[in-house]
Amino acid sequence: MTINISKLREDFPVFKNNKKFTYFDNACTSLRPRSVIEAMNEYYELHPSCHNRTLHSFGVQTTKKFEGARKVVSEFIGASNPKEIIFTRNTTEAINIISKGINWQSGDRILTSDMEHNSNLLPWQFLVKEKGVLLNHFEINDQYSVNLEEFEKILSENKYKLVSFHHTSNVTGSSLPVKELTEIAKKYGALVLIDCAQAMTTSTINVEELNADFIAFSFHKCLGPSGIGALYGKIDALEQLTPMLYGGETVIDSTYESCTFSEIPYRFEAGLQNYSGAFGARAAIEYIKSIGISNISNHIVKLNSILTEALLKEDRVTILGPKDPPLRGGIVNFLVEGLDLGQISLILDKSHRIMVRSGVHCCHSWYHKKELKPSLRVSLGPYNTEEEVRHFIEVILPIIRFF
Ligand code: ALA
Repeated sequence: MTINISKLREDFPVFKNNKKFTYFDNACTSLRPRSVIEAMNEYYELHPSCHNRTLHSFGVQTTKKFEGARKVVSEFIGASNPKEIIFTRNTTEAINIISKGINWQSGDRILTSDMEHNSNLLPWQFLVKEKGVLLNHFEINDQYSVNLEEFEKILSENKYKLVSFHHTSNVTGSSLPVKELTEIAKKYGALVLIDCAQAMTTSTINVEELNADFIAFSFHKCLGPSGIGALYGKIDALEQLTPMLYGGETVIDSTYESCTFSEIPYRFEAGLQNYSGAFGARAAIEYIKSIGISNISNHIVKLNSILTEALLKEDRVTILGPKDPPLRGGIVNFLVEGLDLGQISLILDKSHRIMVRSGVHCCHSWYHKKELKPSLRVSLGPYNTEEEVRHFIEVILPIIRFF
């Protein structure tokens, strides 16, 4: 099925509320449909209250809807038990719950790829300093994938407590063989965490099939509100974690000296929660389901192909990631020899109202390793049109050719 884009765009108030613009920064954060905004407002307009602790009518409604949202999230990622979903602020917080929660001993080992977003690097880097753990990196190869034999060799040589890697890269849009990586890491007894921040609108995530212990993601990258994300964890893996935050609702009892933790997931959700965010997240999932992940994916790959074809005709352009657009999903991140792409992104915005992102995309370590300059990233969403892509090509090609 092809998406009726002009009809879909009517669902996004931001298009009506602004003069004409092109939004190509979807890997950073997506635009939101009206249903998400309405679901969020409904909480404040109808039953602004907290969950669980209170028995009055508003509280009961909030509890019911909060747990309903948890169930929708769990079903969306194929988890059979809603208790395996912890609401967080975002992917970053979800990853920090794990880095702060595991009982690390000096000499424990962590393995990540050499191309992780800072959010899947810094939490481990600080454990090196704070706990004396050892952090190693496996290589993302020239095909933007992983040599599985080399990966297995690394795991066979040393015992790793945790292996953590991205599902889909925010730099290139390419996806790792996450199922195979998980299988190998688990064969050697490691806990596995997958950063799915970039994957939720383009890949169907099924946690039972993936078999990872933990999965982290944010809703703001998949048409949902900012400030709400989720950590999925297998119950026995979550049982191994000490909560990152202590406070209200995390315990069933306390004395002046000690406390008894609540069951999972509540022990990890300290204080009042982002209820409107959770309701918006549910609406975002329902919206995505109504369009269909494969329809979204096909659409953005089609747009990616048009842009890729035009850019690759230019000698000075290098696209980061696999050449083949379907292997880069919605991302076209490129360098132009001799051009300051930070300046170009400002020109695109100020003169043409085209919003892209330039820089090193929170992946400084990999840009340093590869000695790359800051790049310009176009990241596509379900509401982007062929017309917008052709307009971008008309604007960018003269800039590339004449500067
Ligand atoms: N991780 C977000 C990006 O890649 C912020 O733009």
